[in-house]
Amino acid sequence: MALTSIKPMLKIAQRDSYAVAAFNPVDYASMKAMVAAAQECDAPVIIQTSAKTIRYYGHEALFSWFKPLAENADVPVALHLDHGKDLDMIKKCIDIGWTSVMIDASDKPFEENLEITKKVVAWADAKGVGVEAEIGEIGGVEEDIVVAEEDAHLADPNEAERFCKAVELGVFAAAIGTAHGYYHGEPDVQFDLIEEINKRTATPMALHGGTGLDKETIARCIALGCAKVNISTNLKHVFIDSFVDHKKENPTDYEPLSYLKAQFQALKALFADKITEFGGAGKGGNMLKEIEG
Ligand code: 13P
Repeated sequence: MALTSIKPMLKIAQRDSYAVAAFNPVDYASMKAMVAAAQECDAPVIIQTSAKTIRYYGHEALFSWFKPLAENADVPVALHLDHGKDLDMIKKCIDIGWTSVMIDASDKPFEENLEITKKVVAWADAKGVGVEAEIGEIGGVEEDIVVAEEDAHLADPNEAERFCKAVELGVFAAAIGTAHGYYHGEPDVQFDLIEEINKRTATPMALHGGTGLDKETIARCIALGCAKVNISTNLKHVFIDSFVDHKKENPTDYEPLSYLKAQFQALKALFADKITEFGGAGKGGNMLKEIEG
């Protein structure tokens, strides 16, 4: 049984100084390619559905794709909700079988964010589900969540400490200078802030806005305590471009399955590349044994 909560998964990753790659699927094939890449690399992986994707397909369809894929894998696979803002949607994820959920109330004042997060943690704890929460506000565009540059702000280390003492999170998304989507200019990643928050919270951190960050930056963030790295925009580009490229290279091909095959291979290669870059390759089987005892 490879369905895994992010809680033990990310504790192990943080202890062993690597990060688990988290990708946002857009359909069944992209989800399947994530598990295939993880399996090929012997690595844990996090499949994180956006709220927009859940609204498009419904909880039931997404879970019915995920369950057999994860059950037949022999590496740990988590199904996570990314940037959940709607409490009914979050509750339904927990009830149906998501192994972790993110409550993103980062647009609310600190105390309100904490109270909402406590409520979600109580639901999640009852089902062994891990929780991610955000403080500060991460800029950029993530599906239909748009945080303008002037509204984005960094996490405060005192608030980070208070937050993580008040609730036991599986992973903590503190805004540390990254942004969703491609970067316009050099990202201003606050390495000292990551280090300080990690020291004061001892909670694995999530690195949002993984697309467009260079390898050195990501490696430094992982070394300082980021145990989950999110990639979405990169996947969307490969998803579309692989289709377009196949058409350019094979102008007379009207066999849909050959397009799907080319797309699957391109996505799998991207996922394997990121999993390996973040240090997860070769860790999956042992992590699963450790979690299952
Ligand atoms: P990117 O779209 O920049 O890869 O960020 C993904 C993310 O952080 C999802 O929460």
